[in-house]
Amino acid sequence: MNNTKIKIGKTTLNFPILGSSGCSGWGVELQDFNDMDFIGGFVTKSITLKNKIGNKQPRIKEVYGGLLNSIGLENNGVHYFVEKILPKMKKFKCAKFLNLAPFSREDLLSLIDILDKEKGFDGYEINISCPNITKQNLNFNSNLLEAKKLLKGVRRLTEKTLLLKLSPSFVESFEIAKFAEMEGFDGISFTNTYIATAVDVENRKFVFDNIQAGFSGPAIKPLSLFNVYKMTKFVKIPVIGIGGILNLNDVLEYLMVGAVGVQIGTGLLIQPNILEKLSRELQDYMVKENIGDIGKIIGCVKESL
Ligand SMILES: Cc1cc2nc3c(=O)[nH]c(=O)nc-3n(C[C@H](O)[C@H](O)[C@H](O)COP(=O)(O)O)c2cc1C
Repeated sequence: MNNTKIKIGKTTLNFPILGSSGCSGWGVELQDFNDMDFIGGFVTKSITLKNKIGNKQPRIKEVYGGLLNSIGLENNGVHYFVEKILPKMKKFKCAKFLNLAPFSREDLLSLIDILDKEKGFDGYEINISCPNITKQNLNFNSNLLEAKKLLKGVRRLTEKTLLLKLSPSFVESFEIAKFAEMEGFDGISFTNTYIATAVDVENRKFVFDNIQAGFSGPAIKPLSLFNVYKMTKFVKIPVIGIGGILNLNDVLEYLMVGAVGVQIGTGLLIQPNILEKLSRELQDYMVKENIGDIGKIIGCVKESL
């Protein structure tokens, strides 16, 4: 039997392929298309302490090779999540991570305090990299000192698996990841979307009210692949590669440059069954290539420097 399992922190995943935050809903939305006991897992939409209305329309624009989004973290807040959503998620046997979007250190401490009393999920992915809420000056990812203040000591608040999701748009991400490693985080989710924009030429205005939006999809894959490769050289904790994955070849590229696992976002919006589909294809590939353990693929790329 070929081993496709990976371990991140205390969490064992059946496959190194997860649905990414914002494109996996609350997991419930994936169940008609993917066997939720078979796949590796998913990350929820970002959860904030209080309910968050989100940005003005338009929030999505298709562009060459991908998607611009400016959702603005719309969700009903953590108490609604615990009461109404978590009970529906619990039944899935795959790994389940809660993506948390704090606006302050107090927010983050409260979010973990409220959630850590609950069961039925594996860990947290702390998101300090949302590109769509500039007006609230959420800039932890662009400021090493602010990020350090936010994340210091968070490890002591939970025994669950702890991931940090970072932006490719700020060079600070690499030093922040190193700090997270020192602080005892279990892994780095990289990359979030790239900060980008679009202009409505007819009306001579920006498409998005916020001016900037997050760019995702196949066009970002070579960029994120390189960023992930760089990140794997920077930290020793597992890096979960994200960005533009549409097929098994993309998954293998991320694994070969050293990502322990991957997440799929925009690809899920195109093919909602992609998590199960690519997991099965990975299994078949390993049988065909006679690869007994997924560990043989991770970081196997040859460097001729
Ligand atoms: C519509 C949409 C909503 C997203 N919402 C979130 C979010 O709430 N939290 C988060 O951490 N990332 C969010 N992301 C970023 C994705 O999880 C992922 O990091 C990014 O899109 C790059 O991967 P991809 O090219 O496979 O989509 C969102 C992406 C899209 C397209």
